[in-house]
Amino acid sequence: MASSKNISITLKIWRQKNANDQGKMETYSLKDVSTDSSFLEMLDLLNEQLIEEGKEPVAFDHDCREGICGMCSLFINGQAHGPDSGVTTCQLHMRMFKDGETIYIEPWRSAAFPVIKDLMVDRSSFDRIQQAGAYVSVNTSGRTVDANAIPINKKAADDAFDAATCIGCGACVATCKNGSAMLFVGAKVSQFALLPQGKVEASRRAQKMVAQMDLEGFGNCTNTGACEVECPKGISLENIARMNREFLSAKITSEEMA
Ligand code: SF4
Ligand code: FES
Repeated sequence: MASSKNISITLKIWRQKNANDQGKMETYSLKDVSTDSSFLEMLDLLNEQLIEEGKEPVAFDHDCREGICGMCSLFINGQAHGPDSGVTTCQLHMRMFKDGETIYIEPWRSAAFPVIKDLMVDRSSFDRIQQAGAYVSVNTSGRTVDANAIPINKKAADDAFDAATCIGCGACVATCKNGSAMLFVGAKVSQFALLPQGKVEASRRAQKMVAQMDLEGFGNCTNTGACEVECPKGISLENIARMNREFLSAKITSEEMA
């Protein structure tokens, strides 16, 4: 492991007062940044410096700082979550950068993720997609079967768990040239489609979630695969294929029933 040292960096950061402001890149110099610190700790350091100088600190999203919540969402040197792979911005370390380097930091860019302020974007479109169908009905009559008593094929359980590791960060959308949310929606559809508990709404779920995705203004998938490469949780493109199958079979079933 590389030993810790302090580096000086130049930051080019997107500053935007509010959703209506045009926004622009601003330049900042930062000294004595430990290579052991995380990227967000480096931004904390910058904000302390800005506050001491009587300037407005940079607004950016974060919460758990452990790669769980999906809040941290920065485009760093042209890559979602920065140059390391399989990590979120909060798990990125300053040892990935060199002394004297210039680092470009921008918010997610997508029509469906409007900028609120500086590096913060509004991802409530993801919440509305989830509300459209990412839930299961549970029998509360008193004759409910214990979930642990329902046998589930090991492969299906593993695939459902893998899909459920999606943290809703939006890196897939920000990376896709079409601004498509198919990887996210594919993961959310798959996590239910693979389990018996998810079968109750199966015929409606994919249709409702895809309809909401279209309504929110996300683009179409053209199978470029950039989303899979930049996803910090390794969500596989297989989930998009499964969602397409779920969507098609739901459509055929509903047309047959009509
Ligand atoms: S699929 Fe990956 S990149 Fe997209 S929201 Fe989920 S965790 Fe983030
Ligand atoms: S702050 Fe929660 S995943 Fe980064």
